[in-house]
Amino acid sequence: MNFRQAKWDEPPIFEVGTFAREGVKVDEEFLSYTSELLSRLPKRLLRGSPPSIPSLSEVEVVRHYTRLSQMSYGVDLGPVPLGSCTMKYNPKICEELAADSRIAEAHPYLDEEDVQGILEIIYTLQKWLAEIVGMDVCSIQTPAGASGELAGALMIKKYHLDRGDVVRDEMIVPDSAHGSNPASAAMAGFKVVRIPTDRRGNTDVEALRAVLSSRTAGIMLTNPNTLGLFEEYILDIAREVHGVGGLLYYDGANLNGIIGYARPGDMGFDVAHLNLHKTFAAPHGGGGPGAGAVCAKGVLAEYLPVPLVDFDGRKYYFRYDLPKSIGRISWFYGNIVPAVKAFLYIAALGPSIKEVAEVSTINTNYMLKKLASLPGVDLVYGHSRWRKHEFVISFEKLRKETGIGAEDVAKALLDRGFHAPTILFPLIVPEAHMIELTESETKENIDHMVKAYEEIVREAYSNADKIRSSPVNTSVKRLDAVYGNLPKNITLTYKQFKLREVLKGVGSS
Ligand SMILES: Cc1ncc(COP(=O)(O)O)c(C=O)c1O
Repeated sequence: MNFRQAKWDEPPIFEVGTFAREGVKVDEEFLSYTSELLSRLPKRLLRGSPPSIPSLSEVEVVRHYTRLSQMSYGVDLGPVPLGSCTMKYNPKICEELAADSRIAEAHPYLDEEDVQGILEIIYTLQKWLAEIVGMDVCSIQTPAGASGELAGALMIKKYHLDRGDVVRDEMIVPDSAHGSNPASAAMAGFKVVRIPTDRRGNTDVEALRAVLSSRTAGIMLTNPNTLGLFEEYILDIAREVHGVGGLLYYDGANLNGIIGYARPGDMGFDVAHLNLHKTFAAPHGGGGPGAGAVCAKGVLAEYLPVPLVDFDGRKYYFRYDLPKSIGRISWFYGNIVPAVKAFLYIAALGPSIKEVAEVSTINTNYMLKKLASLPGVDLVYGHSRWRKHEFVISFEKLRKETGIGAEDVAKALLDRGFHAPTILFPLIVPEAHMIELTESETKENIDHMVKAYEEIVREAYSNADKIRSSPVNTSVKRLDAVYGNLPKNITLTYKQFKLREVLKGVGSS
């Protein structure tokens, strides 16, 4: 098995063409038609000279773009084990159905009567998601997880203000959290209060108690957390936070590990976002737009972003009459195509959606057991605990013993045909690799990846320089981490040059 992407030294298409070739023959009639059209345009809108369009044969064009597509690596080619991102295989049947022109080409300004089918899908999805997370109402308005977080934080803020509780300006966020959590809390105007993680990998409950006060607006948690560990004291945390009048926000990016088994609403969370593009299999990252969903319980449901989709017994309609709503978070009614894919994914799996959690958890722990026993590898938190959807290993020991750190190991994985996992996150684990396999990967794929890790670690002890020069099998070699961020035509200032030299030294020491 070889997941390796093709390696091409592909010049830009503008450098490929000559002036003697043609991909299409434009007939005379068409040419005279267009020049007649052009003659009617005001002179100031016309180009002074003809555009420089590369002149290529059809076969050159097709090969150029096919080669470009093969330089990329995606989940259709091999595993993308990015922890925290949940990059799972996207069933092609979902892609095909969502591409139906009645969905993909429907304009958001169409009248409700003309999009009853789409509205029925959204209405049903809202209900299913509410059931899955154990909440009362969901809104599909938010276009990503991070915007769901912002919506949730704004809902919590408005809820407190509406009750005249104006002193609650603190949002608690654990140090293991995804960066978007504190960012969203800060954008909503909260002061972020950071609390540590205990050695078992749980949110430190003692530290939480110490910061709770009448200023606590709420806490933002993900469960399982970014270490892939289920918060063992979640019910205590909910009781303590509610006890001082605060609310609980659930970051649903990690729902994959517990879907069908545990519900945030039952754990005591008041509001949650779901990343439909992660847990419910719509491509994201380079693959397409995301879709969030924000779900809320009890009185907080009145604050959800509008519009919701409702049903009056006869027809589906957009519901805007939520007087306490925080309003819109995005244009129109959200990113519908990924929402349709999520609907199809849930419809296809039905109650067996539990198997998503089962298989992803089994995959995680199978691979974890294999990697944790490698020399130079440590777990840092919760050594004896089972993980859920993802796990984090540290190459700190390997770096100290061989000079090869998490980034070098990731580059060496590229040479062996794998997409690297998330590295150097969560920040509480030094030299981290955060690996999430999802339910998509087979035992053979996992064994193949484990073999690559074993080889790399062995090589780190025997021939570290070889790893340091990775990747050599990719179209683009190792980037200069400092210079790589600067546009090509910018000359380094002396300060930047010095910084680059210093960082180079850090990388190799
Ligand atoms: C734990 C966690 N929370 C929130 C987010 C933000 O989600 P999105 O990328 O959909 O904005 C991510 C994204 O990777 C995440 O891993």
